[in-house]
Amino acid sequence: MNINSLEGLDVRGKRALLRCDLNVPIKDGVIADDGRIRASLPTIQYLISQGASVVIMAHLGRPKGERKPELSLAPVAKRLGELLGQEIGFSSAIRGAGTAVATLNAGDVLLLENIRFEAAETSKDDSERLDLARELASYADCFISDGFGAVHRKHASVYDVAQLLPHAAGYLVLAEVEVLKRLTDSPERPYGVVLGGAKVSDKIGVISNLLDKVNILAIGGGMLFTFLAAQGKEIGASLVETDLIPTVKELLERAKKLGVTILLPTDIVVAPEFKVDAPPTVVSADSIPMDQMGLDIGPVTATTFATAIAECKTVFWNGPMGVFEFPNFAHGTQVVADGLTKVSGISVVGGGDSAAAVRKLGFQDSQFGYISTGGGASLEYLEGKELPGLTALL
Ligand code: 3PG
Repeated sequence: MNINSLEGLDVRGKRALLRCDLNVPIKDGVIADDGRIRASLPTIQYLISQGASVVIMAHLGRPKGERKPELSLAPVAKRLGELLGQEIGFSSAIRGAGTAVATLNAGDVLLLENIRFEAAETSKDDSERLDLARELASYADCFISDGFGAVHRKHASVYDVAQLLPHAAGYLVLAEVEVLKRLTDSPERPYGVVLGGAKVSDKIGVISNLLDKVNILAIGGGMLFTFLAAQGKEIGASLVETDLIPTVKELLERAKKLGVTILLPTDIVVAPEFKVDAPPTVVSADSIPMDQMGLDIGPVTATTFATAIAECKTVFWNGPMGVFEFPNFAHGTQVVADGLTKVSGISVVGGGDSAAAVRKLGFQDSQFGYISTGGGASLEYLEGKELPGLTALL
């Protein structure tokens, strides 16, 4: 797949419409992790250096066409200005932003308010999306797609504008695709994948597609309990997706036939409730008490996972191993993240949650081969699905 790269697009002195993924965690107006804003800087800086004026489109959360003040991009505009070291404009109008756009000079940057405040952005109706895309396209001479985290969405600002303007992928999209290609086209072996997070339903597709490509698959997070249940184990009050037990059983069978090592926890950190100060106890994965729920992988499991992946030459990790936001249940994620830092080949941390987890636990981005900004997008790429936002750039 060859996507148009930024250098091939004439942006000098032009008005550039840029899609970024600035969907960062914000609590009480404070940005908890600005990784996605930082990851967007190289393309913005390049456009500025070319004397382009830049109109940025981005989303925050899922406001479903409603103007929700808590999902305003205003705090993001402020942080972006700080990181760029220049004042940037912010337009609360999305449609009808033409007047603000017209005042832009070479090197100016204007961020439009949360694009998902417009219902047409995410509409399933092609003509509604196209109508919004036409207005957005009227703001600029060219379109640059750099919001990797959203390229799996067939949205107006991701997909449709690309049909209307000369376009190219920005540096972030190019970098992400290059890394994902390394994971899919002839990865160096052994190849290990660590998956966590709450829901197995989010990961079934990727597990199924990766099974015949990987050597080791380690399962942690809330989703592990559906695996334990599929093995007929007692999981107490832990999270489980009962309807997926048959699918998980099939995956385990397939893994066995393919000779893939599936690593499942042998010990679990449990607590009576999902609370920051809930008292943790380590139990065997074979005997989780009925009144307890698993909130982290146990210490023996964490070491086993970390040792196995540290020996791999290619590692992809998506999803925390436990409730890392609660210090009592962060140990598994911490130890596995540490294992990733020891990989001598390429280690990729995928997804907003996992990236936020490693940063919160005190790791530096530079300790990993690559930190992907895309959660759903990188998983869908690894699932082998077509990503509309990339197809649009071919
Ligand atoms: C993400 O957080 O993975 C991206 O910003 C995409 O968000 P979405 O899942 O709401 O489309």
